[in-house]
Amino acid sequence: MEPVGAALDLLARLDDRPLSDLDDAAARALAGDLRETVRALGRAYYTDGESLVGDSQYDRLFHALRELETAWPELKTHDSPTARVGGAPLDSFAKVRHPEALLSLGNAFDAADLRAWVERVHKGLDGVLAEGERPAFVAELKIDGLALALTYREGVLHRAATRGDGRTGEDVTANVRTIRDVPLRLAEAPEQMEVRGEAYLSRSTFERLNERLVEAGDKPLANPRNGAVGSLRQLDSSVTAGRGLSFVAYGLGPVAGTVPGRQSAVLDWLDGLGIPTGPQRETFDDVDQLVAFCERWAQERDTLDLEIDGVVVKVDRLDYQGVLGQVSTAPRWAVAFKFPAREATTRLEGIEHNVGRTGVIKPLAHLAPVEVGGVTVSRATLHNADYITSRDIRIGDEVVVKRAGDVIPAVVGPVSGDPDRDRPRYLPPSVCPVCGRPLVRPEGEVDLRHRDGGCPAQLKRAVEHWAARGALDVDGLGSKIAALLVDQELVADLPDLYRLDRDALLALDGFKDRKVDNLLAGLAASKTRPLAKLVFGLGIRHVGETVARDLVAHHASLDALAEATAEGLESIDGIGPIVAESVAAWFGDPANQATVEGLRDAGLNLTRQPDERVAAAPDAEAPLAGVTVVLTGTLATMTRPEAKARVESAGGKVSGSVSKKTGLVVAGEAAGSKLAKARELGVPVVDEAGLAAVLAGGPVPGAVSDHPEAPDASTDDVSDDGTSEASASPERVPQGDLFGS
Ligand code: IVH
Repeated sequence: MEPVGAALDLLARLDDRPLSDLDDAAARALAGDLRETVRALGRAYYTDGESLVGDSQYDRLFHALRELETAWPELKTHDSPTARVGGAPLDSFAKVRHPEALLSLGNAFDAADLRAWVERVHKGLDGVLAEGERPAFVAELKIDGLALALTYREGVLHRAATRGDGRTGEDVTANVRTIRDVPLRLAEAPEQMEVRGEAYLSRSTFERLNERLVEAGDKPLANPRNGAVGSLRQLDSSVTAGRGLSFVAYGLGPVAGTVPGRQSAVLDWLDGLGIPTGPQRETFDDVDQLVAFCERWAQERDTLDLEIDGVVVKVDRLDYQGVLGQVSTAPRWAVAFKFPAREATTRLEGIEHNVGRTGVIKPLAHLAPVEVGGVTVSRATLHNADYITSRDIRIGDEVVVKRAGDVIPAVVGPVSGDPDRDRPRYLPPSVCPVCGRPLVRPEGEVDLRHRDGGCPAQLKRAVEHWAARGALDVDGLGSKIAALLVDQELVADLPDLYRLDRDALLALDGFKDRKVDNLLAGLAASKTRPLAKLVFGLGIRHVGETVARDLVAHHASLDALAEATAEGLESIDGIGPIVAESVAAWFGDPANQATVEGLRDAGLNLTRQPDERVAAAPDAEAPLAGVTVVLTGTLATMTRPEAKARVESAGGKVSGSVSKKTGLVVAGEAAGSKLAKARELGVPVVDEAGLAAVLAGGPVPGAVSDHPEAPDASTDDVSDDGTSEASASPERVPQGDLFGS
């Protein structure tokens, strides 16, 4: 029976009478039916992402099965779906001798290494390859988790073992049974086979897990790999069950039975058996394309929800693999193209506290310079005081530093968090390191902050923000000049900018006529900016560009906005209670009221202009509303994060992989597998110019309806930091030092 019908049938049977009334034969029959149906529903859900019945119906079936298995223990089978929730804790892991050793891989660190390896393969196959034959290679992503060997007997998962030293591993069967990706039973399979693959934690699962650990007062895990190892080495499998591990297969160990003759076909075959394999693999006989695939993934690794540390390249034909053989513990027929490391260890030499424009204190690590992925890093964010204390990071520690993509480097944690080490623990500052004013940590927030204004460091940030492009866009007023004006006490609040005196400016070091004229002209021009820019420029907490536009769309002047109550503001679509509260509180503060008056006196525009584009397009009408976009290849006119921000602010969602659900693929220079996949699935593809046209309100190719209303697609409008200023602002970090040139 198909699973939905079977489920409904079973639910009706369960309602008939209590399970305890059943006789042994009826219990056995019911348990068998339940097992089959729960398994089919689970497969549809976990493998195909389809919910065939409601959660509560699934739970009812699942719990009935467990109840039967508890009352009639002889009905419990190893491949029962109830095994997923974990069993009784073990005392220790039994050792498992692998029937065939799990090999390690040789490395290629760049294209030249990879080409040299291909050369060696050609040589090794000398006399085997036909005239002019180019052997095919399979390229698979190298997931950073831990290797497992799964033994199936008669299609039932019999044993799962870790790699260990390659010859002997540990029996982690009970834990592996809890991994949803690992089928407990295969519909069709050889008599006995060993499947090899990688268990891992996806990035999102890892982050959720760390949040949970920190909340429970435990130490967070350093990275997904450590998280995966730790999760599998739990003696209590119910702990593993709660960790959300994933698994992909990448090959076979010994098999009693016949298997396909190529690596690519083996993976397809495993897929067909219901064992997940890495979806991004590709087969090449052209070495240039193979190299391009490896190099592209080195760039695109952050688009995935899992950590990869390289690409594994394998000779496709298994008979050729046999000819090539192995040297010591690594095969000649496979190589790991390794990506540059993104983590390094170094000494934490000090912690500096910086002040943000809303008065938040951000700790910044000073590190002994260390190379991470080809760039020397000596500064890294420590996020907030809580982050430091929960990881027990101390000055003088050897710490792990991570630099991923364009993201600011961050300290992950101490290498060894020995709680008895004799360095003093980190103590969050109680006063501002710049101005000495007391700091507070509002209930429910992670950041330390100034209670009141008046801190010169905060004022510098506020002036920089006021002058920034998305705000009042003051020509001639960058961070250096902002700092100088504050230090020289020429500017004590924002209106002071408009009281700057030509002579006073000329008296400053390095200020000649042209520089002064430029600054004064920039300030004069800023007086007539649209109201939404000014509202954004005020630097009110939680008010990013989009929120500012929403506020102005509903209030025609700054005075009207100042009079709005939190409740009134909350009734605006897109404005939540936190933002509403923050805006009302800002206007309620006498110091800010004085700022508003000062700006009015200085002649700034405080009303919405008739032609001001403020009505952010309602979501459903945004050009990419509900469209999933995949970016691939190298984009020439914008960075990846920029492109992502633009897509998102146009209502779209950016995903890392192409599927039938993808609405649009943006293909840059040297786009490869994703582009091919898009073509194969008939997903519309545009280049960068095509994306720009869509962002400007043009129709989405292939979409059912288009969006005639063009929203504001100005370049400033790429992101909204409406949440807070929390992230360490990149311009505060010495770029060259961190990111190299
Ligand atoms: S093949 C002889 N394929 O990388 C082939 N390994 O450094 C041995 N890994 O222990 C492994 N993804 O844990 C292979 N697609 C992949 C892989 C992969 C990750 C890991 C695996 C192995 C290590 C070798």
